Amino acid sequence: MKWRKYKRKQMARSLPKSSVLVLSSLPQFFRQVDVSYPYRQESNFYYLTGFEQAESLFLLFPSARSVLFIQDKNPLKEIWDGPLYTVKEAQKKYGIDEVYSLSQLDEALPKKLRGVSKVFYDSNSNSLFDKKMRAFKFKKKESAFHFLKNFRRIKEREEISSIQKACSCSIQAHKQVAKALRPNTSERALHGVFIQSIMEQGSDREAYQGIFACGANATVLHYVKNHSICKKGELLLVDAGAEYGYYSSDISRVYPVSGRFSKNQKKLYTALLKLQKQLIKEVKPEVTLKSVNQKMNEGITQILLEFGLLKGSLKKNLKLTSHRKYCPHSVGHLLGLDVHDVTFKKGESGVLKNGMVLTIEPGIYIHRADKQAPEDLRAVGLRIEDDILVTQTGQKNLTKKLPKEVEEIEELCS
Ligand code: GLY
Ligand code: MN
Ligand code: MN
Repeated sequence: MKWRKYKRKQMARSLPKSSVLVLSSLPQFFRQVDVSYPYRQESNFYYLTGFEQAESLFLLFPSARSVLFIQDKNPLKEIWDGPLYTVKEAQKKYGIDEVYSLSQLDEALPKKLRGVSKVFYDSNSNSLFDKKMRAFKFKKKESAFHFLKNFRRIKEREEISSIQKACSCSIQAHKQVAKALRPNTSERALHGVFIQSIMEQGSDREAYQGIFACGANATVLHYVKNHSICKKGELLLVDAGAEYGYYSSDISRVYPVSGRFSKNQKKLYTALLKLQKQLIKEVKPEVTLKSVNQKMNEGITQILLEFGLLKGSLKKNLKLTSHRKYCPHSVGHLLGLDVHDVTFKKGESGVLKNGMVLTIEPGIYIHRADKQAPEDLRAVGLRIEDDILVTQTGQKNLTKKLPKEVEEIEELCS
């Protein structure tokens, strides 16, 4: 909690005079009238408050004064959904200067916002606060998310420790999946093994829907159906990560269904692994993610040329970005409260800084009908993904303990 208070102070110092930062929680969504979807607090809201209840509104002023509105106590609702915080409890536990109940909002909010000319706020069409916020005629409006992103990109010690815990849960769970894998296992059952393992370790939930994709399914980048049966000779791509204390991990590994890579699979995987390790070494402060991405494009193109999947010169293929047929995604993204965390936009070079966490995840995907490829490389999707902390002098691989060498993987799967 301490670091959040410090963060709020630091952030308040960057707020211009007569401004306010306003964050609203996400609403609770319902599948039917009284059956709710799992609730997770909005990431920015959680970042600055740690408060998990829905229907909450948070305000931060340049003076560093913090104000929180929370749901009123409601004994009837609480019978079904469990206790809600009292104003006093919330104030004490979350270290907020002023806490009010929502029934006081209409009276208190105009008073709090009197004299404010600039608001940092993101409207969320589902939020019950939008209409109220629109009623205030602020002279200037800016996105709260854009204001927050430079802070969120650099992780505090406590945040890194949560990411590391999320990584450890995922590492253990990936190993369980590899051990459970054999011909005729279903992707879904393996997904179940992963979820059971991360839950047993105290993880809150998956950081994103896990991808358990065997054979041709692995060439669908966001395959999440997980409804096939793994067959002998196929490779299984697992891209799955736990969330721990609201922080994400994101790991991809490739496991041979029958316990061993074929000759060509091994060759291609080894080439990709070599490149992935080189790319990890590139990560250090002041290097741009764009330049690491360019190195990935070059490396992938070279591999594709070596395997006869592309023809012609390296230069020409790079110019045409022909590797994109086999690797349509970029080298990685920032990681934190969200799996694709306040990540760099297209056109932004993405200068890496000490305290950032990112993924390095080159991949090669070969369609089942690709006549250029030898038969055992058709319907194959390879991605090797690790989570990397940028340190003062270079980088630390937070997911290093999950094997990725051919021999280690074969041992794990056998
Ligand atoms: N799991 C999503 C990604 O790797 O970006
Ligand atoms: Mn990723
Ligand atoms: Mn991933």
